Amino acid sequence: MDGIGTIGRGEVTVRDLSKSFTLNGRRLDVLRNLHLDVRGGEALAIVGPSGCGKTTLLRVLAGLERPDSGQVRIDGQSMEGVGTDRSVIFQEARLLPWLTVLRNVAFGLEVRGVTRAEADRRARHCIRLVGLAEFEAAYPRQLSGGMAQRVGIARALAVRPRILLLDEPLGALDAMTKLTMQEELARIWREEKVTMILVTHDLEEAIYLADRVLVLPKDRGDVPQLIEIDLPHPRDRSAPPFVALRRRLMAGFGLH
Ligand SMILES: Nc1ncnc2c1ncn2[C@@H]1O[C@H](COP(=O)(O)OP(=O)(O)OP(=O)(O)O)[C@@H](O)[C@H]1O
Ligand SMILES: [Mg+2]
Repeated sequence: MDGIGTIGRGEVTVRDLSKSFTLNGRRLDVLRNLHLDVRGGEALAIVGPSGCGKTTLLRVLAGLERPDSGQVRIDGQSMEGVGTDRSVIFQEARLLPWLTVLRNVAFGLEVRGVTRAEADRRARHCIRLVGLAEFEAAYPRQLSGGMAQRVGIARALAVRPRILLLDEPLGALDAMTKLTMQEELARIWREEKVTMILVTHDLEEAIYLADRVLVLPKDRGDVPQLIEIDLPHPRDRSAPPFVALRRRLMAGFGLH
């Protein structure tokens, strides 16, 4: 046992979670008494206006930020800081420029003591999964933005997390690449059976990928909403139920 690939369903339980920051001497309550149950293997999208606390919530779940009060449990166990059961993907891939694609993806395994041969085997599987098998010897500067982000996803998956935490992972990509990557993320999620918690400002992306969408309100006095997306995969963005859901979500933000 190498401490990687721990068995668990990737259930996340959040109870009474509160987080505030102090900014110029003023207290800012970002998350207030939040409750959330994410099912094992579920894809949950988090949307909400800029500054409503999406990144803060994700950072708390990642163990990068301590909550003021409340509890986060992963598969019933109280969460203590960062852990190998969770991988985080940010807007930009943050690859190590002096390492090849293969070495970037294998890096997290090697620092955890996995043998080079096993790390390479696992890394190659993940590189194939994101469609970059021919680029394993390339360096980050030789990749496009979308390819670099795919390497980031492969690297996050290589350590076999139970939970994948994504903060606007496709936010910096052009519209066409973004659509392709959304399809790839949906496929990877089905194949790898991880729990996926995805922050996005793109409502269509949320409906395309998620089982449920958590809508965080701008006004912290308001209650967050959970919207069930009960549509079969792969989803058709132009199908009437899809369009109706998008309209409903947009109306919730006062958009038309
Ligand atoms: N380290 C920090 N110190 C002080 N205030 C912070 C800190 N991090 C976040 N905040 C504040 O918390 C609030 C929520 O920030 P957060 O980054 O979670 O928003 P967000 O929903 O991710 O927004 P966006 O959609 O723009 O990414 C903001 O008002 C921000 O100024
Ligand atoms: Mg953010």
